[in-house]
Amino acid sequence: MAELAETTTAVASPHAAAGTPAVKTVELTKTFGRTVGLAGLTMTVPSGEVFGFLGPNGAGKTTAVKLLLGLLKPTSGQGWLLGRRLGDLGARRRIGYLPELFRYQAWLTAAEVLALHCQLAPLPRSSWKDEIRTVLETVGLSQRAGDRVGTFSKGMQQRLGLGAALLGEPDLVFLDEPTSALDPVGRHDVREIIRGLAARGTAVFLNSHLLSEVEQVCDRVAVVDHGRVIAQGTMDELLGGTAVRVRATGLAQADKNKLASFGRIDDEGDQLTFTSLDAERVPELVAMIVSLGGRVYEVAPRHQTLEDRFLQLLEDEER
Ligand SMILES: Nc1ncnc2c1ncn2[C@@H]1O[C@H](COP(=O)(O)OP(=O)(O)O)[C@@H](O)[C@H]1O
Ligand SMILES: [Mg+2]
Repeated sequence: MAELAETTTAVASPHAAAGTPAVKTVELTKTFGRTVGLAGLTMTVPSGEVFGFLGPNGAGKTTAVKLLLGLLKPTSGQGWLLGRRLGDLGARRRIGYLPELFRYQAWLTAAEVLALHCQLAPLPRSSWKDEIRTVLETVGLSQRAGDRVGTFSKGMQQRLGLGAALLGEPDLVFLDEPTSALDPVGRHDVREIIRGLAARGTAVFLNSHLLSEVEQVCDRVAVVDHGRVIAQGTMDELLGGTAVRVRATGLAQADKNKLASFGRIDDEGDQLTFTSLDAERVPELVAMIVSLGGRVYEVAPRHQTLEDRFLQLLEDEER
């Protein structure tokens, strides 16, 4: 798969007005009858950044993207894409979108599907051939351009959808769970494509429940749960702390409960992970475990991962 960064010039698109956020929302809300899809989303995605929108299933990620794209009408609240009000056609011409539930015309070839998207965009006909060739190369489907989509695996169809989202070099690309059908190689390829987009100044809005995926490519993250943002910031801001894994035997549940003052514990039997513990407190923790009759075999401090932080945030939220 060709790297986008190499095939396109590494300058921001001339359309992207400097300083205008790629996405901005204020109290954007969507209810479906009694179900809350999104409960007042307020956030800003700076232009040119890779933004991770993270949350468990049903949190409201797809609803947010559909509202931003104008595919759903907000119940209340406001939003802007590339400085224009939601639904603005001029802004919509400058964005790309890979839906979560994609399905392409099985009877068309890959190149024909892309031509259809060029037509719908619409892109000038003289550019179609080059556009289609470039995106097929980017998503690794050049050899399959003439094959019917009906003969494609789910993963190949997802690559095709990603290609469609990249046609016309958009300033902002929405990817809703873009690797759901892909194997580890495909996931790696998508991360490379996202990095290539970022390198040429395209903002990426990445919906995902896959923490490692987000951790590896995003500059900034918002964590959403039950339709509300429960944390947002740069990856550094979000992952300030240390996590400490302790392997110890001889601790009863009541003993473990006494360790709660050391923060959230991910309890996996003999292996306890303290998801946000200052390394300075490790000796104190070990002394306490020993005083409770525990036998300590291993203490391993490490940087907090997005998964540690995510579990901690969701648990705080439940309280
Ligand atoms: N068209 C719809 N009608 C009714 N409820 C919906 C609809 N779309 C989404 N929801 C509900 O809104 C909530 C958020 O869904 P969604 O945005 O798809 O979550 P996510 O993408 O984070 O998994 C869920 O409770 C879901 O059932
Ligand atoms: Mg979704």
